[in-house]
Amino acid sequence: MQVKGKNVLVTGANGGIGSAFVKELLQRGASKVYAAARNKHSLGHLKQLDPERVVAVALDITDATHIANVAGTCSDVHILINNAGVNRGMWLTAPSGQEAARDEMEVNFFGTLAMCRAFAPVITANGGGIIANTCSLLALVNMPVIGTYCVSKAAEHSLIQGLRGEMAPKGIKVIGIYPGQVDTRMTEGADGPKAIPEQVVTAILDGLESGAEEIFPDPMSQQVHTMLLTDPGQVEKEFAKMIPA
Ligand SMILES: NC(=O)c1ccc[n+]([C@@H]2O[C@H](COP(=O)([O-])OP(=O)(O)OC[C@H]3O[C@@H](n4cnc5c(N)ncnc54)[C@H](OP(=O)(O)O)[C@@H]3O)[C@@H](O)[C@H]2O)c1
Repeated sequence: MQVKGKNVLVTGANGGIGSAFVKELLQRGASKVYAAARNKHSLGHLKQLDPERVVAVALDITDATHIANVAGTCSDVHILINNAGVNRGMWLTAPSGQEAARDEMEVNFFGTLAMCRAFAPVITANGGGIIANTCSLLALVNMPVIGTYCVSKAAEHSLIQGLRGEMAPKGIKVIGIYPGQVDTRMTEGADGPKAIPEQVVTAILDGLESGAEEIFPDPMSQQVHTMLLTDPGQVEKEFAKMIPA
């Protein structure tokens, strides 16, 4: 499916990857981009890009009333990009690990699930389309220093797999997006190479437009994915080495 002429809703649109999504969707000729964020005032820079085509939407994906309202008002959506997410940067056994895990599951899994459930009938009514979820490479292997986040993303990965089968007869293609580390607010202070959000989003939308079901949009995600296919146990061991002695 091409982006040109489609109406697209992006959650977490004020964030690093979300903002890059909005810009690139406009570039590719989307008819309308619903830029959704918890704080509508944080979307001014995106609205300014194209006041006609960018519609700012207030949306907390953990709030069932918000979601129902947005699914009602954005009833012409063809492509839903579930991009909102949180990373509490927490070890599984840290003092606040249980609380962080619940927070992350609430947004990354339950919030994403609620958005898919609300928008599936909308997209079907509009003739079919796409649900694309910004999951994470860390859905496929746990990085212990942010262990609770990885668990929530693993749940999101399983959601993507399950939905793919459920949505196909409804005319909806479900795409999983698995980035490595990207330079956004989420990775502030983190070590290691970081991909540029604009480049990541270009690769994601190239994949979406060419029919991919799983997208590894940057060199780190591509490299680690290849290693996971050959020796997942070794990747797990390498990631475990990040735990300070
Ligand atoms: N950066 C990376 O290395 C990386 C790698 C793989 C996957 N990802 C995934 O990519 C997605 C985007 O992250 P990012 O890197 O762009 O980080 P970011 O700049 O921190 O953006 C995260 C976005 O999610 C929004 N959000 C958080 N909780 C929300 C809620 N309850 N309802 C609605 N929106 C909510 C944030 O809104 P507020 O401004 O209101 O907090 C923000 O717009 C996330 O799903 C993340 O897990 C990121």
